[in-house]
Amino acid sequence: MYLRLLLLTLLTGHSTSEVILSICRYALGMYDRTIRDEDITASSQWYESTGPQFARLQREEGDGAWCPAGLLQPEDVQFLQIHLHKLYFITLIGTQGRHARATGKEFARSYRVDYSRNGDRWLSWKDHQGQQIIKGNVDEYEVVLNDLRPPIIASHIRVIPVTKVPMTVCMRVELYGCAWYDGLKSYSIPEGETYMAPGHPIAYLNDSTYDGYLGRRLFDGLGQLTDGVLGLDDFTQSHQYRVWPGYDYVGWKNESTRNGYVEVEFQFDRPRNFTSMKVHCNNKFTKGVKIFQRAECLFKSRQQSDWEPESVGVVTVLDDKNPSSRFVIIPLQQRVGSFILCRFYFADTWMMFSEISFQSGNALLTIMLRQQREPLAPTTINHMVKHDEPKTSVLIGCLVAIILLLVVIIVLILWKQYIQKRLEKAPRRILEEDATVRLSFYSYTIGNNNQTQIHQSNPTYERIFPLDLDYQQPTKPLRKLPELSQSAEDSGKRNLTKSTPHQGFQNSVPHYAETDIVNLQGVTGNNMYAVPALTVDSLTKKDISVGEFPRNQLRMKEKLGEGQFGEVHLCEVEGLQDFLEMSSSDCSNQPVLVAVKMLRANVTKTARNDFLKEIKIISRLKHPNIIRLLGVCVRDDPLCMITEYMENGDLNQFLSQREIRSQFTTANNIPSVSLHNLLYMATQIASGMKYLASLNFVHRDLATRNCLVGNNHTLKIADFGMSRNLYSGDYYRIQGRAVLPIRWMAWESILLGKFTTSSDVWAFGVTLWEMFTLCKEQPYSVLSDEQVIENTGEFFRDQGRQVMI
Ligand SMILES: *[C@@H]1O[C@H](CO)[C@@H](O)[C@H](O)[C@H]1NC(C)=O
Ligand SMILES: *[C@@H]1O[C@H](CO)[C@@H](O)[C@H](O)[C@H]1NC(C)=O
Ligand SMILES: *[C@@H]1O[C@H](CO)[C@@H](O)[C@H](O)[C@H]1NC(C)=O
Repeated sequence: MYLRLLLLTLLTGHSTSEVILSICRYALGMYDRTIRDEDITASSQWYESTGPQFARLQREEGDGAWCPAGLLQPEDVQFLQIHLHKLYFITLIGTQGRHARATGKEFARSYRVDYSRNGDRWLSWKDHQGQQIIKGNVDEYEVVLNDLRPPIIASHIRVIPVTKVPMTVCMRVELYGCAWYDGLKSYSIPEGETYMAPGHPIAYLNDSTYDGYLGRRLFDGLGQLTDGVLGLDDFTQSHQYRVWPGYDYVGWKNESTRNGYVEVEFQFDRPRNFTSMKVHCNNKFTKGVKIFQRAECLFKSRQQSDWEPESVGVVTVLDDKNPSSRFVIIPLQQRVGSFILCRFYFADTWMMFSEISFQSGNALLTIMLRQQREPLAPTTINHMVKHDEPKTSVLIGCLVAIILLLVVIIVLILWKQYIQKRLEKAPRRILEEDATVRLSFYSYTIGNNNQTQIHQSNPTYERIFPLDLDYQQPTKPLRKLPELSQSAEDSGKRNLTKSTPHQGFQNSVPHYAETDIVNLQGVTGNNMYAVPALTVDSLTKKDISVGEFPRNQLRMKEKLGEGQFGEVHLCEVEGLQDFLEMSSSDCSNQPVLVAVKMLRANVTKTARNDFLKEIKIISRLKHPNIIRLLGVCVRDDPLCMITEYMENGDLNQFLSQREIRSQFTTANNIPSVSLHNLLYMATQIASGMKYLASLNFVHRDLATRNCLVGNNHTLKIADFGMSRNLYSGDYYRIQGRAVLPIRWMAWESILLGKFTTSSDVWAFGVTLWEMFTLCKEQPYSVLSDEQVIENTGEFFRDQGRQVMI
């Protein structure tokens, strides 16, 4: 699986520029009545029996559709209004005429759409060319689907039939899209500028779909920064629309700003607890365009109040090597507010953004529980837009692929050997393990949720995939997606907490490493390694095998992270070699860096016990590629454990500040790594993971942020990434209870809470991807957290709709 995943990613590069538009296509509930009758109104109706509540696509109720009163005149504005109660990202609209079991014959040949985000200010939708009129139906029964490009972000929609000659019209309607998880109501930016350079086409970098007020500063609207379309590497090129150069970007020139920054203000629907913000930037440095050099953001909760003085921000690593456009992540450190003001500082003459998105907590993890139903509108084959971007260096791509293949083969061989050994050695245990699979906290969370509530809060269901404009034949019988409905029925009937794996994938996933898992509550609120119960028992009976370290010899240098129960510090110690009674061949008793996990003094007894258990377990791990426990302080509070740390910090930061070694980097003294170095580090990770697997330990959070780099590219696997603010955007928080590294998790871990050696292998695949892309981006960076989770559903269904990294 990960072979395909890796090769695909590395060879095609980032091909998914319109993923959001292609994923976000769920019917919003006209057909299935999640939109209630009272939320469908109209400017008028012909009779009671053709009232607005009968405007439901594919239904034949009342007299079969909504019909406005009288003959529709060319100058009339008659509308059908749908109130969605919260903001939705609407990508598609479906219309149908009045068929009424062959007695009707009215339909709307064309229509337009108005929308509102507050029910008060109404705006007219326009396409990229500024056209409002959408081609509607040609007969009284066929459904016609129209993509909305740009999509609409709104809570109220009006569908307005349009006619050239007086005539009777009737309509049935469905809206398609998804909840607008960002919650962004408007942004305010300085007007975009025009790029002019000798010998270069003029590029118009204005926000041409902005729907608020225009002027020197745009305000109270949304536009190209939220349209789901990412700009290409060359900012003068655009996606498929026949528009002017620079269309996908909004850009500014340093010269026209007074202080060297651009100020952007964001307004949200309600106070949110923000994890991170992602800004998609152009980096065509040869044309004077770069990502921002740093960003600072301020927060406030009410319009009138002042900005809270404390800012959060990021200083970026500038890149003079790779001209591709990219997402830059700004960690927002769980700050709360409904308004954010960010300053983006220029790193070059120009700065160009094509998309901005936000990740904030509180989103219910309900997507996967969505009940699947029969498709309402005909489902055509999915066409995920894949633009194969020519890579700057095909050669590097090929080399990487070859090396990866080797790595993968080595790893496969190692795993195979390991599995064989296990099969030979412990057939009895496997049987036992098969019998009891206790799922971890994840499904426990699901089990605790009230299903009906979930369905109310997320009234979306079947997703449809017509991306091309030539649509369907609705008279054809609707094709059911068997696996899909099957799986939904299963999960509807079954209590997930107790479930064993679905039939559907029992064949494909051997559960050779499922264990009766003991979850340890790690010191910083993370869940530590999952360890087989047997092992825990045997281990915890023994004494702690490392010595008590004199606390006063620890010199704090830096806080690495913190969590619910404690903190992780980077410390310096002297005399460590003496303490460890290491042979004093390198008798340099120099200060050494260590990481110190410290439990707060006032925590619960369970947390204390878990901490002691964690110490006992970690103290058994002895492998050159696993961070080792060096000592503990358990005589008095606060309890702490001292582990190795490596001088070059974590692998994520290490790689993100480097380029692939080339003559260019060598000549210019640019920090770099060679492919050989990367391969060497990858094999060390594989080796450490193999060791963990041999003990039946499941790491559950393998990622570059959890690998530490020492001298000469030596590498050790650690586990404190989760506690670090820097990486909070890599974790998804379920209702404040558990945090999950969803972008690194195999689908069965996300959907069923199954963490096994196999899911560690998946994470290893993602880690390799990170390494060979030098950690320049998050995995699936174009997807929001919710979409990542949704995507795992596609991995499960495996109908080719899943988005690869
Ligand atoms: C943006 O620039 C284009 C090209 O000059 C122009 O046609 C369009 O009206 C502008 N749109 C806005 C909203 O300023
Ligand atoms: C941008 O302009 C400001 C002042 O106008 C100047 O201080 C700063 O150095 C400029 N930045 C770049 C990257 O040119
Ligand atoms: C924001 O969310 C984090 C994680 O759930 C939580 O620890 C923090 O207390 C929240 N902040 C506020 C002010 O609610």
